[in-house]
This record gives sequence, structure tokens and C-alpha cells, in this order.
Amino acid sequence: MLTVLLRCDLNVPLDKEGAVLDNSRIVAIQDTVNFFLNNNARIVLLTHLGRPSPSHDSSQWNPSFSTLLLKTAIEKAFQNDVLYINGLIGKDIFSTIQKSNQGLILLENLRYHPGEEANDFDFAKELSYLGDIYVNDAFSVCHRAHASVSQLPLLMNHSVGCSLQKDMDAFHRILKKPLKPLVVCMGGAKLSTKLPIIEHLLPRIDYLIVGGAMAHTFLKAKGHSIGSSMYEDSYVDTASSLLEKYSSSIILPIDGIGIHYTGTLITTDLSDVPDDVTLYDVGNNSIKLFESIIGPAETIVWNGPFGKIEDPRFQSGTLSLIHMLSNSKGITIAGGGETNYALSLVKDHSLTHVNQGGGAFLEYLEGRILPGLSALGLQ
Ligand code: 3PG
Repeated sequence: MLTVLLRCDLNVPLDKEGAVLDNSRIVAIQDTVNFFLNNNARIVLLTHLGRPSPSHDSSQWNPSFSTLLLKTAIEKAFQNDVLYINGLIGKDIFSTIQKSNQGLILLENLRYHPGEEANDFDFAKELSYLGDIYVNDAFSVCHRAHASVSQLPLLMNHSVGCSLQKDMDAFHRILKKPLKPLVVCMGGAKLSTKLPIIEHLLPRIDYLIVGGAMAHTFLKAKGHSIGSSMYEDSYVDTASSLLEKYSSSIILPIDGIGIHYTGTLITTDLSDVPDDVTLYDVGNNSIKLFESIIGPAETIVWNGPFGKIEDPRFQSGTLSLIHMLSNSKGITIAGGGETNYALSLVKDHSLTHVNQGGGAFLEYLEGRILPGLSALGLQ
């Protein structure tokens, strides 16, 4: 029986009792899992969960990071029993795997072992003894130079899982051969964190639509008053240079929804925001403006919420954006931690592709080399 070591990213959100809150990352690997199960292979699921303190002494492993918490959710998603193994490497683990007739086997949290994050060759070597081939189906960990991501594939015959392949295809449609017009919608709080992506993408795209508090830094650079809203003073000059160089490509909101210091909710034109108003979302006129750009686009990429998404009073900008993308005739690709959270707020959407990665999605769009992709020969 062929044993596949499947590096997946089952780093899912859990509630206080340890129940899985969102199983998207589990469902994301279903094509790969079904392929190997249908071919009578044994699949050893390798994942991390959270950021536990590593230790060689398993009695020190904090149980609130145990992959045992994932067992039921995986069984439910794949309608298959899962054999959970309370350990990671060694001959006992090897023989338990070899004796098992179970299709799905779940090892403990990779990050319990100090060798994982240390990118330790010996730990990767020990892992490699457990299976016949290595498959990576987790784009979202490819930015980590960790043993199971960047060393293990070099030690084994390796392959690319279906979900990772879909992510690579989507990036190809953005960075290599995009259908034009290509529009990027970028939101979030800070321009500083998104600057490397913006600088990498602006020369390649037709429009950059900016939302979220990072738009305030651009508005400030244009000389607008933004009331008491958040912005980054030390990035106003950078925003100004970008506006000068890409004046016709950068599209900013024209109205916003905010709170007056008295607590009243107000919608205001962004050319004249009163001093005592703090902005938290884009307004309807901005949405109409964005629609006129997104409507004719052939490729649209989205990262980052357009308002304070965790507050129901300021979700409408982001939800309208999701609606626009769902109704677009173009290819729509989204990714990033907060973006995935925003998508989880809507029952249904019909985006072409959603990348489950947070940091990895951003780093790839910045044009950085990801160790996990290099190890697979994909970059
Ligand atoms: C993620 O959630 O982005 C991945 O699982 C990587 O997790 P990390 O940021 O803890 O490395």
C-alpha cells in the first residue's frame, strides 16, 4: 500500500473549547485526499496548528494545540475514519502507520517538534522514513522555511496537490498572463504593510482601487481632511509619490461612513470630512465609482477589507465589493487572512478562486521567492 505524506495546512480557527470554527482549509484538500483514497493509498496528514512552544519532551506539549482537536472535523469532511497518532517520528510511529489499514492518518502538530521551525534536516529525514511520496497541498505554508515545507520534498519523490495547483494557476492568471483590464482591489488598515505588494503590482495592472484605512494615507497625501481617522503620517510622502507616478491608475474612495464624536453614524463626502468624525467604511458613491472600474475588468484581484469588518455597522463596503466580484464577468481571485474572514460572513459568493493563505498570499504578490515553492521546483 502506497503511503503518501500530505503536507496540508489544517491551521484552522478553534473556539475556546477547541471546536473547529471554520473548516475551509480542511475542505480545500478534498480533491487530493479523494484522489489518493480512491487509489487505495494511505494518507498521512502532516500539519501544524497554531504556534505552540516546541519541546523534545512530549509531556511539555500544550494540548490546546493538539491535532486531536481536528480529528472529528476531518472525519466529517471526508466521511472517513481518521487514525490519530500521538507523536511525529520514530520506529513506533512508522510501524503504527504500516500496520494501519486506515486511509487517513493524522500525526501530531509538526510544530511541537523543535526541528520543524528550525528547518532541521535530521527532523525532515526522520519524517521522510514514514512515507513513500511527499505531496504539498498547502500554498499557505509555502512562505515558511520549515522542515516539512522546504526540506522534506528534497528528500522524497514529491508532487503538487490539487489545491496548491489551483493556487498556482490563479497566480499565473494575475502575474504571468492576465486578461486585461486587470484591477486590484486592496484594503486593510495600513499602507505600510501593503506597500511592497502595491509597488510590485502597480507597473503591471490597469487600476488599483484602494479601500480601508490605508486609503486615508492617500487622501491625506492629496491634501484632503480626513477628520480624526486613522492614517500613517510617515507614509504620506510615499503615498504622494505613488499618486504622482500612477495618477490615472490609483482609484480612491470619494465618500465614507464614520462616527461623529457624539456617537452618531454619518456619511460624508471625502473632500470635506469634519474634524470630529472618524471614518470606518467607504460610502455608496465610492461603491458606484468602484463598480464602474470593476464592471469592464477581465481580471480582478482582491485583498483586504474596505471597512472595519469586525463591526457590523461598517461591513457594507466590503460586502458590496464581494457582491460586485460575485457578479463580475471577469476572473475574480481573492486571498489573505482578513479577506477570508470577510468571505466567511457571506453565505454564498461565486468568486473564481479563493486562496486560503494569509502571509503566503501577500508574500507571493510581493514577488518574493517562497521556500516551499522552490523546493517543489515551482519557483
Ligand atoms: C497561516 O495561517 O497563514 C498559515 O497556517 C501559516 O501559519 P503561521 O503564520 O503561524 O506560520
